[in-house]
Amino acid sequence: SAAEKGGYDYFMLKEIAEQPKAVADTLLGRIDAEGSLTLDEVRIPASVLREADKVVIVACGTAFHAGLIAKYAIEHWTRMPCEVELASEFRYRDPILDRRTLVIAISQSGETMDTLMALRHAREQGAKVLAICNTNGSTIPRESDAVLYTHAGPEVAVASTKAFLTQLVACYLVALYLGQRRGTKWGDEIRAVIRDLSRISCEVERVLETMEPVRALARSLKDKRTVLFLGRHVGYPVALEGALKLKELAYMHAEGFAAGELKHGPIALIEEDLPVVVVVPSPRGRSVLHDKIVSNIQEIRARGARTIVIAEEGDDAVVPYADHLIRIPATPTLLQPLVSTVPLQVFACELATARGNEVDQPRNLAKSVTVE
Ligand code: AGP
Repeated sequence: SAAEKGGYDYFMLKEIAEQPKAVADTLLGRIDAEGSLTLDEVRIPASVLREADKVVIVACGTAFHAGLIAKYAIEHWTRMPCEVELASEFRYRDPILDRRTLVIAISQSGETMDTLMALRHAREQGAKVLAICNTNGSTIPRESDAVLYTHAGPEVAVASTKAFLTQLVACYLVALYLGQRRGTKWGDEIRAVIRDLSRISCEVERVLETMEPVRALARSLKDKRTVLFLGRHVGYPVALEGALKLKELAYMHAEGFAAGELKHGPIALIEEDLPVVVVVPSPRGRSVLHDKIVSNIQEIRARGARTIVIAEEGDDAVVPYADHLIRIPATPTLLQPLVSTVPLQVFACELATARGNEVDQPRNLAKSVTVE
């Protein structure tokens, strides 16, 4: 009913709008006054965390994209190797797991069969499993050694939005927590990022306030057949997520690429007026990557692409090559997905609406996939 949707036409719009609160709620009580993390829920004994020599993340769909982003954060802040694998592939390839492997299973519903089977397999091999989950008491957290709940509240729309942002928050918390516990050389950076993270929900709110041009752009592209998404570093999984949202909602052909791969094949797809969304890394953090992506934008534009550029406020280098410029607030490099994903959600939702699709219940899809 309209009341359930809180005055919005679709649950998805309501859930996109709820993201600042979902992010803030997921951080609540987990950062103390001194800026230290208190993840009491992570009942895995400190000795196990100290001795763990590898992290393996398993998940499906959007949760898998959160895992791909988590890998950058975990490896950087903890110096532990981290693999991310589609849960549906994981147990069929005889993965190497033992008591020193920390497995993280990410699932909004906690009922995804592929993810459940992956975690059962991991536990049979002696690995410890931490679930990141949005649904209290669901099967995946019940069968895990520990659980860090995301506090997104119920997500009704099939396309995951607020659950994704809170999965990212939970992954950052785990990465920063492990980094702090294991005492890497990034202590100062970790403290600074915890501070930025504690304020990030305001930045998400600011992004939401500037989405009208994104909606207008989406409507103008309603008759296109294909949209490509490019990103690099943590922007690469964001590009994958943007493409997944568009497939699910707008039923358009959409693909995400790592920008560095362009020359290895995908650039052959570029043609006159093809919309290409580019997620630009911060010019501050990894400036080399920033410069490389700016030349990618030039290359595709020279071949006729219509460039839709998502870039930090103050990033002037992209201006001459952007047919459409979407601004996001400056954030620490690794946290950028929390703000860069939001315009892609709005874009896909508006395109679906413009094409007359059922936003909350896309064809052929179920909210949780409880069969293999
Ligand atoms: C995302 O928009 C999806 N509908 C889908 O990919 C989803 O993220 C996936 O099925 C995993 O679900 P889960 O988080 O409930 O395990």
